[in-house]
Amino acid sequence: MKQIYLDNASTTKVDTKVVEAMIPYFSEKYGNASSQHLIGQEAKRGLEESRHTIAKSIKAKDDEIIFTSGGTESNNLVLKGLFFANEKKHIITTKIEHDSILNTCKWLEKQGAKITYLDVDKGGFVNPEDVENAIGSETLVVSIIHGNNELGTIQNIEKIGEICRAKEVYFHIDACQSYTKVPINVGKQDLDFVTLNSHKIHGPKGVGALYIKKGIKINPILHGGGHEFSLRGGTENISGIVGFAKAVKIIKNSNLKKINELRDKLINEILKIPNTKLNGPKDNRLCNNINISFGNIEGEAIGGYLDAYGICSSTGSACSSHTMETSHVLKAIGLSDLEANTSIRLSLSKFNNEEEIDYVLKVLPKIVKKLRRMSPIK
Ligand SMILES: Cc1ncc(COP(=O)(O)O)c(C=O)c1O
Repeated sequence: MKQIYLDNASTTKVDTKVVEAMIPYFSEKYGNASSQHLIGQEAKRGLEESRHTIAKSIKAKDDEIIFTSGGTESNNLVLKGLFFANEKKHIITTKIEHDSILNTCKWLEKQGAKITYLDVDKGGFVNPEDVENAIGSETLVVSIIHGNNELGTIQNIEKIGEICRAKEVYFHIDACQSYTKVPINVGKQDLDFVTLNSHKIHGPKGVGALYIKKGIKINPILHGGGHEFSLRGGTENISGIVGFAKAVKIIKNSNLKKINELRDKLINEILKIPNTKLNGPKDNRLCNNINISFGNIEGEAIGGYLDAYGICSSTGSACSSHTMETSHVLKAIGLSDLEANTSIRLSLSKFNNEEEIDYVLKVLPKIVKKLRRMSPIK
């Protein structure tokens, strides 16, 4: 059966152009970028050209980009790295962060950090005034998810950046979901740290980056041989890094427009099914995100039926779905456990087309009808 992949917020298919760009770094330019010989220097060139591509994409300087193993490591590095390099111990974040931020914060609390977890409104937006009010003399950093992985909510980082600058606290955004979908300009948006990864944008898994504004000191968490400006020890994953940069280079704005149109069609048509509700905002939402609650039926059950029809969806974020806990993000926007568990997330990519969307729209209402007939809750 043909698979219709609508779980692109979890991960994406690697573009064949990305694979092609990576292959020479396994078979010909396989050197260690620290080696002085020709093959090592070819690897070094691949590394530095990739660093330039990533830096340029967010209007940063090349030496402000550190390559990591992904979003999780970048998020750990910024919070732990700052905490252990500074006297100030207060971190401000939100209740709708990815687990790699929330669990890092929980761990840092055990090391003596004081964490403020800000509330969000019904759409998942942080109120910049709340950020301002939470900042005190002990505040070290404000860490906010730019585009939410479950709801698609895009935060007003310009405003929050302005506040952080005025109050002289560091500002970090986790941009794993928004990168290349929403413009990031580290200067204009007053950003000190930005977390990026590759596998959400048709690049390989296990590669990411952290932008660190020049002059800010953090401690490494991986100590090693001086790689990545002595901030991240370990031989660089050159093929992965080259693939990441290639994924960035081939992004086309026309694809974003197409994804946006398909998303709107899906949302508008699904909402015609009785007793359905869009979770997250209508505007300022990632172009590929849909999150909908279906009254009285389990999201897990809908996902199971969709899978049987060859449609890949998800409930909550993939990272938390194996714990079977109710999504902390849906709870933060005010959904009850019951309501949150009736939701599914569909997330699109450039590889989806209208025919696939029409198929989903044919199948989904039938599944909902069938499950509602079977549901004990009316
Ligand atoms: C917002 C956000 N932050 C961080 C991560 C973690 O990234 P990675 O899978 O590269 O470790 C993800 C991926 O699920 C994410 O969506």
